Amino acid sequence: MNLQDNPTLQRAIGAMCEGAAGSDPELQAHFAVALRHFHALLDELRLTDQELYRIVGWLGKVAAQDELIMLCDMMGMTMRALDLARSDDQATPQNVTGPFPKDGIAEGPNPCSLATDEEPGQRLELRGQVRDAVTGHPIAGAQLIVWQPNQFGRYENEDDSQSEDNLRGKLRCNAEGGFSILTVRPGGYIIGREDTEVGMLMKRLGRNRQRAPHIHYRVVYPGYRTLTSQVYFAGDPANPVDCIFSTIDDHIVAVRPHPERDNYQLVELDIVLEPEAAR
Ligand SMILES: [Fe+2]
Repeated sequence: MNLQDNPTLQRAIGAMCEGAAGSDPELQAHFAVALRHFHALLDELRLTDQELYRIVGWLGKVAAQDELIMLCDMMGMTMRALDLARSDDQATPQNVTGPFPKDGIAEGPNPCSLATDEEPGQRLELRGQVRDAVTGHPIAGAQLIVWQPNQFGRYENEDDSQSEDNLRGKLRCNAEGGFSILTVRPGGYIIGREDTEVGMLMKRLGRNRQRAPHIHYRVVYPGYRTLTSQVYFAGDPANPVDCIFSTIDDHIVAVRPHPERDNYQLVELDIVLEPEAAR
């Protein structure tokens, strides 16, 4: 937008005085960018003051329903922000954290079993190695935290039929940076609710609320940027329609019959961490 075409925008930007007591030059610069985009939106949609206040009021309702992050997710802004924050093409990209991480669970052995024998579903081994993005060396002792829904797409903390910390695990990589997780294939699920502000918006936009099946993980090790990401399964029909656009190619892995374990599928996942020193 040409600043000269909008004298109010020009004045709003000019009202931020350089060097004023208590002023923050970086915030001033960023706010000027935001002002330009907000004014462009007003101009393009020809919003009236009443319509503008309705939108602001609506955002207040979304906040009261604790769905601001979901709004960012469904607009694709969370995935875009994670992409922009990526500083090393060799490192495994971050993915959406979601509302259900629980870091305070007990550390178990490696291999680690997330599912009891009674857990229904297709058996799956998720195994791989954690490596350094710069040297390629394995990271022995890296801590891996994993959480996932059951085969019906339900996380234990939203489902009374599951035991505490079901399908959650914490383990340390071995001397070769290796890990093995025995579990079941998770189901996809529908996010949010139909009757919230974001749910109603998605309906009116003709959008689905489907999440593709996935397993969440976080990898922590001193000297490395903590990685929070997800793994998706190649060939799943929900991958192309995932409603938060998080099924990027880097996170979709092949699933094959397990060569050593009867009735298991195998997913091999290499995880590459970015050293803090490289940032
Ligand atoms: Fe999830």
